[in-house]
Amino acid sequence: MDILKAVKERRSIRDFQKKKIPDELFDKLMEALIWAPSAGNLQSRKFYIIKNENTKKKIAAAALNQNFIADAPLVIVGCTDSRISYKYGERGVYLYSIQDVALSIMGMMLVAHENGLGSAWVGAFREEEVSRILNMPSYLRPVAIVPVGYPSKIPYPPPRVSKKEAVEVIE
Ligand SMILES: Cc1cc2nc3c(=O)[nH]c(=O)nc-3n(C[C@H](O)[C@H](O)[C@H](O)COP(=O)(O)O)c2cc1C
Repeated sequence: MDILKAVKERRSIRDFQKKKIPDELFDKLMEALIWAPSAGNLQSRKFYIIKNENTKKKIAAAALNQNFIADAPLVIVGCTDSRISYKYGERGVYLYSIQDVALSIMGMMLVAHENGLGSAWVGAFREEEVSRILNMPSYLRPVAIVPVGYPSKIPYPPPRVSKKEAVEVIE
C-alpha cells in the first residue's frame, strides 16, 4: 500500500466487530511496535496487550467510560519506562520516552490499517487507575490506550488545517 494513502486513509475507529485478529496479523502488529525508532535506540517503552474481556472493561471504565475500547478484540496500553529513559535525564523521562511510545503506536496503526484493521489513540484516561488494573511497576507510566480490531463503522475524515497554516517553510 502507498504509505501516504495509508496515512490519509487511516481513521480513528470507535466501532469494532467481534471478529478475532489472526495470529499472523497480531505478530505483524507486535513487530511494528518494536521496530519504530527511539531516542538513542533505548526503546524506553513497554506494551501491555489486553485480550481479557474483564480487564478490557476495567480499562474502558478508567478511560472515562469510553466503552468502545472494551469492544475491540485487542487493547494495547503503551507505557514509558523511566528505568530506561532516565539515561537521558529529564528530557529522556518526560519527552523522549513518550515520543518512543507514540512512534511505535503510529507505525502499528498504519500496519493495522494496511491489513484492514482499525484503531484509535485514546489519551483521556486516569493513569493511576490503569496502572493499578494492570499491576504496573512504578517505573512504567501508561500514556496511550489503543483498541485494535476490525472496524464496523469508518467515520468520515475530520478536516485538517491547510498546509499553509501548519507549515512554515524557511528558505
Ligand atoms: C494524543 C491523542 C489523544 C486522543 N484521545 C482520544 C480519546 O481519548 N478518545 C478518542 O475517542 N479519541 C482520541 N484521540 C483520537 C483523535 O480524536 C483523532 O485522532 C482526531 O479526531 C483525528 O481523527 P482521525 O484519527 O480519524 O484522523 C486522540 C488522539 C491523540 C493523538
